[in-house]
Amino acid sequence: MYRRKFAKETQNMNIIITDDYEQMSARAAEIAVRTVTENPNAVLGLATGTTPLGLYKRLIADRAQNGTDYSAVRTVNLDEYMGLPKTHEQSYAYFMRKNLFDALGIAPENTNIEDGTATDEQAECARYDATLEKLPRDFQLLGLGSNGHIAFNEPNTPFGSTTHVVTLADSTVKDNSRLFSQISEVPRKAFTMGLKSIMQAKKILVLASGANKADAVFGMVRGEVTESLPASVLQLHPDCTLIVDKAAASKL
Ligand code: GLP
Repeated sequence: MYRRKFAKETQNMNIIITDDYEQMSARAAEIAVRTVTENPNAVLGLATGTTPLGLYKRLIADRAQNGTDYSAVRTVNLDEYMGLPKTHEQSYAYFMRKNLFDALGIAPENTNIEDGTATDEQAECARYDATLEKLPRDFQLLGLGSNGHIAFNEPNTPFGSTTHVVTLADSTVKDNSRLFSQISEVPRKAFTMGLKSIMQAKKILVLASGANKADAVFGMVRGEVTESLPASVLQLHPDCTLIVDKAAASKL
């Protein structure tokens, strides 16, 4: 494992390259646990996807071993598929409950996510923006789409965006179809936290693993800051750490 700072290209991004997925997850867990032990009332911005699962397993193991207390933590999630109720196995609300919240003892009333069943889209976006305003995030975890998206902010989303409804890129529908029994079941629309809101978090931690993320990692770190690669906006954040395994870092 080694650290790299691209002083010229990315003034602020702290980059940690690990041998593999397990090491990436372990390093991320150290940072997340420290955030909560230093501030038990922390507001955590959390992400779904397969990338954070190793981190989440480690948080659960750490709580079992060391008793890290999550009872006062509040969480806000990035995004939710439109049309899926929170009881649906593919909804992100369900994913969070099953893979993290129940095991960490985080009460449902301390968690926040967009309501995929909301029929008034504008009202739901406004409600979520108000929630984000009330709960300034101490920490924001992000995965990375293979097309450079963060949350569900697909290429060409304005950097000034707040919570909004997106039509998912075909490549995202394809990437995410592995978690559904068939591609036709993947919702085509979603609610997502916007890029401006993501950038408001005090500290950001991005995880990426595997060769299929290598182009997006390169663009995020070394490319120009452009709306065509949403993650590149993170170069402008004052406290952003990226933990990537060797495969994802292979083009840096
Ligand atoms: C999804 C999520 C993102 C996630 C990305 C990568 O589209 N909305 O928040 O970061 O995909 O997913 P994975 O970690 O499974 O590669």
